[in-house]
Amino acid sequence: MDQPAAGGTEYAEYLLIDDLLRLQCPLTPGADDELLFIVVHQVYELWFKLLLAELSRARDLLAASDANAAVGLLQRVSRIDRLLVEQLAVLETMSPDEFLRFRDPLAPASGFQSRQFRAIERISGDAGDGGGGLWDAFCACGRGLGLDLPAGEEPLARSARLAALAGLYHEHRAPGRAALHRVAELLLDHDETIAAWRFRHTLMAARAIGSRPGTGGSKGVGYLRGTIDQRFFPELWEVRNRL
Ligand code: HEM
Repeated sequence: MDQPAAGGTEYAEYLLIDDLLRLQCPLTPGADDELLFIVVHQVYELWFKLLLAELSRARDLLAASDANAAVGLLQRVSRIDRLLVEQLAVLETMSPDEFLRFRDPLAPASGFQSRQFRAIERISGDAGDGGGGLWDAFCACGRGLGLDLPAGEEPLARSARLAALAGLYHEHRAPGRAALHRVAELLLDHDETIAAWRFRHTLMAARAIGSRPGTGGSKGVGYLRGTIDQRFFPELWEVRNRL
């Protein structure tokens, strides 16, 4: 095999592979599927890390009125989101009895406590990470179309924003509108795919633990069912009724 060129970077050194491979530490001896469980969760957290970086870059670009540049990042977000849904199938190859062999010792650990998942929820909604959320940035970017004002959830403000949004959907081919319309549809992709993840994760949990409580202390599947209808951008769904 070729040696790395002088000044080049060696694969394992650049990617810290040895460090990475030291981070999988099953708790229960002999529980063969615990490695699968740990790897899948760690991979999710890595994708969450990238998602957060891309969502906050997209948010900043929108706040700076650069919808064109945000499109590429949101396309990447959408593809990562789809991977999140697909990956659940890997974990579904674990049988419930195998899971029970190592489940008790890992409690109270639960995805419920994933800080990065909560941060994704915040930045996708309207709270953000101190820099505001995607929705506010999208509305600011559409200020020329009347999307930014008035802000808030008051019925009149909401109705005015929905009318402006309907205007964007009615006429979205003109220069200056096409990119913003594309952003709106990509935000909806993000919303839809995370909702699909919530649904699939709920089914996967039912398949793995039935009606047992969650390791994080919730009612388990009953709790998860209540999260399926959450949406980041309710107005993007509602505008469909106005077209
Ligand atoms: C056998 C596999 C899994 C089961 C049985 C399971 C089960 C559960 C349950 C019952 C909850 C509710 C909270 C609790 O009381 O624990 C929960 C929450 C959660 N789980 Fe999982 N889970 C599994 C795999 C995963 C994976 C691979 C991820 C990826 C990161 C994940 C992420 C989450 C998140 C983010 C929440 C919080 C959801 C919310 O509050 O909206 N879970 N899980």
